[in-house]
Amino acid sequence: MKNKKVIFSNFLQKIDNNDFVKEIIDGLSSKQKYIPSKFFYDKKGSGLFDEITKLDEYYPTRTEKSILKNIAPQIAGNLINKDIVELGNGDGSKMHILLSAAREDVLKSILYLPVDYSQAYIKKTTGVFENDFPEIKIHGIVADFLSQIDMIPRRSTRLYCFFGSTLGNFTSEQAEKFIKNIRACMQKGDEFLLGIDMVKDKSILERTYNDSQQVTSEFNKNILRVANKIAETNFNINDFEHLAYFNEAESRIEMHLKANKELKITSPHISGNIIINKGETIHTENSHKYSTGYIKNLAESCNFKILDVYTDEKKWFSVVHFAV
Ligand code: AVJ
Repeated sequence: MKNKKVIFSNFLQKIDNNDFVKEIIDGLSSKQKYIPSKFFYDKKGSGLFDEITKLDEYYPTRTEKSILKNIAPQIAGNLINKDIVELGNGDGSKMHILLSAAREDVLKSILYLPVDYSQAYIKKTTGVFENDFPEIKIHGIVADFLSQIDMIPRRSTRLYCFFGSTLGNFTSEQAEKFIKNIRACMQKGDEFLLGIDMVKDKSILERTYNDSQQVTSEFNKNILRVANKIAETNFNINDFEHLAYFNEAESRIEMHLKANKELKITSPHISGNIIINKGETIHTENSHKYSTGYIKNLAESCNFKILDVYTDEKKWFSVVHFAV
């Protein structure tokens, strides 16, 4: 019997593919060349990120999950009739931890809305949840949540979840705008769980993004394959080296791809070529690391109440529980 409790929307189809081409070409035409990090997550990139989360060096996922496991009974006890809007659900394993603590009558009353840029992740998550939580109603949404958050339908009081320190990918300005946008969408009774990675020793942070098995390097380089697909560029991943370091002034890990020789990049979408000098980098990701001060400031500037800040023994990661 087909389970009609699962429906899908793809909001990305409403975005003109030319907009994505333009984003990539604009980035490559800037003084500091960049490619927006959402382009990591094609099918291959999503799979590589899943591999990263299992690496010894990559503590964030493991640490956040241990926090969620601790708070799951309390969170799950409050989910009756809620719409759970999870932005950037990834493989869905974090929500899985929370919902595993929910009673059957609670599960029956929930509408789960996973929202991800990666269609592969939406399919994976909805498939697993259909099987493991047959009681739950699911609306899987493929979308760019930076620009399309207003399109998510509302049935009831919401719990927003934004885990994985995905916020850290945004510039400070984008992050503030994004959180303010979520705040503006929130109504009485809505709550918000935000998972963020905390500042720590530089050597630990740099190790996390330079793993011994080079999975992060492969993940980083894969963005060039995505650019080739979307913008019809002619990148060869072998012409680049993975670079990841902690920028202390900005409190963020930066990932770059460094050209190991001079390159002429062509695309039918640009007139002329893009020249990349030997040693020049393409900035592919920021991963901001936060302080407790940041959490307080964010709550103040966005007019949130902080219900709680959950953390781990080493205080390496935080899950902030906001209410309006
Ligand atoms: C998914 C954005 C949280 O910044 O740590 C992992 C992505 N990049 N290794 C992060 C990532 C390199 C990850 N986020």
